[in-house]
Amino acid sequence: MTGDLPWWKRTTVYQIYPRSFADDDGDGVGDLAGVIGRLDYLRWLGIETVWLSPFFKSPQADFGYDISDHYDIAPEYGSLDDCRRLIDEVHARGMKIVFDMVLNHTSAEHPWFVESGSSRDNPRRDFYLWRDGRRPYGARPPNNWRSMLGGSGWHHDPRSDQWYWASFLPFQPDLNYRNPAVKQAMLDVVRHWLRQGVDGLRLDIFNAIHKDASFADNPFSLRPFPTEDDPAGFFQRPLHTQNHPDTFAFARELRAVVDEFDRPPRFLVGEVFGAPDLLREYCGPTGEGLHLVFLFQTLRARFSAGGFRELMRELEAAFPEPLHPTYVFANHDRPRSLERLGNDPARARLLAAFQLTVRGVPFVYYGDELGLPHDAGLPFEEAKDPIAARFRFVPRFLLPVLRRRGILLNRDEARSPMPWHAGAHGGFAPPHAAGTWLRVHPQSAVVNVAAQRDDPGSVLSTYRRMLALRRRSLALSGGRLELVDAHCDPRRVLAYRRAHAGETAHVFLNFSDRAARLDLRGIAGTRVHSSLQDAPVALAAQHELRPWEGVVVTGEL
Ligand code: GLC
Repeated sequence: MTGDLPWWKRTTVYQIYPRSFADDDGDGVGDLAGVIGRLDYLRWLGIETVWLSPFFKSPQADFGYDISDHYDIAPEYGSLDDCRRLIDEVHARGMKIVFDMVLNHTSAEHPWFVESGSSRDNPRRDFYLWRDGRRPYGARPPNNWRSMLGGSGWHHDPRSDQWYWASFLPFQPDLNYRNPAVKQAMLDVVRHWLRQGVDGLRLDIFNAIHKDASFADNPFSLRPFPTEDDPAGFFQRPLHTQNHPDTFAFARELRAVVDEFDRPPRFLVGEVFGAPDLLREYCGPTGEGLHLVFLFQTLRARFSAGGFRELMRELEAAFPEPLHPTYVFANHDRPRSLERLGNDPARARLLAAFQLTVRGVPFVYYGDELGLPHDAGLPFEEAKDPIAARFRFVPRFLLPVLRRRGILLNRDEARSPMPWHAGAHGGFAPPHAAGTWLRVHPQSAVVNVAAQRDDPGSVLSTYRRMLALRRRSLALSGGRLELVDAHCDPRRVLAYRRAHAGETAHVFLNFSDRAARLDLRGIAGTRVHSSLQDAPVALAAQHELRPWEGVVVTGEL
């Protein structure tokens, strides 16, 4: 804690997709030893918290989001010893570590589901959601509920002639949280990892945890596709399958469990979908539920001063203190952020300046700190992602259109091996490796860590600079936020003030390809820090912002 600011409100999070970050043993698949070997890079970059996508035991049908043993590590990623070492090595560098908890479902290969499916009267039957089909012959699914990917989420099991429910893919059966034994078992998993020293948990599709006990049909909707603000889609409103009031209540229960571990305090961030006002319910009016939720409104915001001002207004209104927003612009399910920025690294630098100065926890997706482009050229036919396999029928010309709307049907495109240098395998795997699980990014010879590290004009340098500034300033990392209209042309420049305990920072972001004039008279401060250069300059009455430049005016920092 720093005064009234708990660490998780001030932190910066970096998402690692373990399969793609660093391969230590040369099998072409990233692993925990690889991550450990790159922690010094993250420390150098100035990241405070590392979140890893799941690496637990799993058949890898959805690359770890299908867990078959929550207490063990998938052998391709390492061992329990590696996992312990990872936690220790992160902590030894003064950083925090977040694990990905898939509470909603397990793999169909989880022993619970294998038992549950073995017969109608198996003691584990009720660990999952089994129902008879609709009458007269039970040949149709129990009700009209659709999965999050469209199509019925019910799957028929010929052995017992019943149907089981899966919110996502068929091999990811949903657990039944109305069974107290299930809830207990999963809370034990949570406690286990917190006891191991994990600092936070990212909760996979948390919005789907509770389904309505009535199993009544979902209402009809005219909407063909879900959007960032409305999960209705595939012509139904997921009234009984998503964002159920019982899930909001479960968020509070989970919070109480996490609060048992207070040295140091831990945090929960939920992957949930819907309008900010609704998502706030997961946090509770005074923050007694999940600490944070993802707010994917960021992905539909127009990249302009007006668009981002609107976004901030919206998130500030929905998440006033003591609640705290999050800012995420990419992850392993979405197009890389450079894609929405017209593949322009200058805009990527401005995005960093915004994301690291706005009030909220920033989540940076690995590779985005390099301005790594989306690998749109990956042949769809060769995709390893199970979603791509499911949507193979979609005509190819629609893919870029969907992508621009944030919908990614081949998620491999955003999961390229991290490019560390221009050498063999982009430095992701040792030179002797026969290949990599996914192709090395076609631009990795040019866009990589080694090429950007010492270049003050690189995207990487901007991230590092802004992260350093944020760490030094409580106003930037945790202070209040106020939008400002004066001092600049608001059509092109986004301006806001951050303040905490007597410290203030003024931020000006030029969302245009022309220079913009700032009139800084009357602003308290002495230094102007730029997103584009290392050394701050002294505050003067007039300042000219370069195209796509962001500056922060502070006192002595
Ligand atoms: C989440 C994950 C995604 C996964 C899905 C099912 O949306 O981010 O990668 O496929 O849940 O677990």
